[in-house]
Amino acid sequence: MRLTYYGHASFAVETGGKVLLFDPFISPNPAAKGIDVETLPCDYLLLSHGHGDHVADAPAIAQRTGATVIASAEVAGWMEGKGAATAVGMNHGGKKAFDFGTVKCVNAVHSSGLPDGSYGGNPMGFVITTPERSFYYSGDTALTLDMQLIPRWAKLDLAILCIGDHFTMGFDDAVEAAHMAGAPRVVGVHYDTFPPIQIDTVAARKAFSDAGIELLLPAIGESIDV
Ligand code: NI
Ligand code: MN
Repeated sequence: MRLTYYGHASFAVETGGKVLLFDPFISPNPAAKGIDVETLPCDYLLLSHGHGDHVADAPAIAQRTGATVIASAEVAGWMEGKGAATAVGMNHGGKKAFDFGTVKCVNAVHSSGLPDGSYGGNPMGFVITTPERSFYYSGDTALTLDMQLIPRWAKLDLAILCIGDHFTMGFDDAVEAAHMAGAPRVVGVHYDTFPPIQIDTVAARKAFSDAGIELLLPAIGESIDV
């Protein structure tokens, strides 16, 4: 499975011949100016919650690609209003099979207002199980004991976790999250984009390695096999 990082909490996963794009916040991010949002491939567009730093480029990408949106019912409805051809609205605890695998929506402890003030429903994380890999994207969240439930029904290969602190868990809590979710490898996201979420990446790497968990911090635009 191939993962490409687009900065902040935006990344794509290629699996089973499909491209799953998560939380696109690319054109407003100066650090991601090397990424051409006009040509990004996308078959499925997964949005963890309604905040602008997760949906900024979502309407344009959905309009251009015709990708299927997967999000909370409220964010999915908002995306339909913005021209998304197909949007699958879900909510906490629900799972659904797609042609690339299964998506289960899990709790995230955060908020979810949309940029225009619309109600965005519940913020979510996603556990995605494909024939290749099982992975968890936390979305924006605090550390929560709900993460302990994940290994009861999924054996994760990877977790993509927020590590930037201030608005979400920091890297110390993300180490705990990886433990609870049963993830041996972590890709860190949602850090260094804005001054409040600048972190000491040396300290972050040490916190994970001390816990026996691999932390991957791909550069913006970098693709890694995971
Ligand atoms: Ni947020
Ligand atoms: Mn955010």
